[in-house]
Amino acid sequence: MAESVDAPDLKSVDFKVVGVQVSLLAFLYKLTSILKMKIFLDTADTELIQKYNETGLIDGITTNPTLIMKSGRDPEDVYQEIKDMGIRDISMEVVGSADEMIEEGVRLFEKFGFCSTIKVPMTRDGLMACSKLTDEGIRVNVTLIFAAAQAILARRAGASYVSPFVGRMNDNSVSGVALVQTIASLYNQHFSTTQVLAASVRDVHQVGRCFDAGANICTIPPKVFWGMYKHVLTDQGLEQFQKDWDSVMK
Ligand code: E4P
Repeated sequence: MAESVDAPDLKSVDFKVVGVQVSLLAFLYKLTSILKMKIFLDTADTELIQKYNETGLIDGITTNPTLIMKSGRDPEDVYQEIKDMGIRDISMEVVGSADEMIEEGVRLFEKFGFCSTIKVPMTRDGLMACSKLTDEGIRVNVTLIFAAAQAILARRAGASYVSPFVGRMNDNSVSGVALVQTIASLYNQHFSTTQVLAASVRDVHQVGRCFDAGANICTIPPKVFWGMYKHVLTDQGLEQFQKDWDSVMK
């Protein structure tokens, strides 16, 4: 059983719901996650993460090997810096066979504690690793989801998150938002606690569409997050209000 270096005592607090023993920590985590539309940043650029985390609107970070490569840094230095900013959910991708992913996932969890979410690919080995890591109380994000059937298997393997790749589906002339909707609806019908984390989001419009389709979380590039503040009519309205205010003040 993996032990986190900073595991709070709450982890050992259990209670019973209709005769079933439930971990208080797991229960509270699920409850707060489900009640909130969450925004994650999809980047390993810690300068940008620092800048946008100051808004208080960022719930987590997703990384992948490509994003880590672009940062030009050691992945664990990146995770540590993000953790030190107080971010409580960081997807850290692992590779290799099921055993290798399990070993690496446990090691990362032991090093970074409860902020770690282990990201595994949607493969046979990835799902075997997902089951094992989940049994150890470690959050798992199953990535590279392109079909409802894959999301069903990830759910069966106990994933905390599934990541449908909206933009990459659209690039191939298939609606990514429609897939988000199908998975969210399936999960709702079957009272699934696995959350839909819409990934590969390319523009502001897609963020709204993904949440409208039932995504619990959207992970978005920093540029898209910044774009969410903006609207031409907000700018026009603001300019007019400023002019009128200035004339009142005269
Ligand atoms: C997130 O977890 C994915 O790694 C990411 O969103 C992929 O985005 P891309 O399709 O823009 O590379």
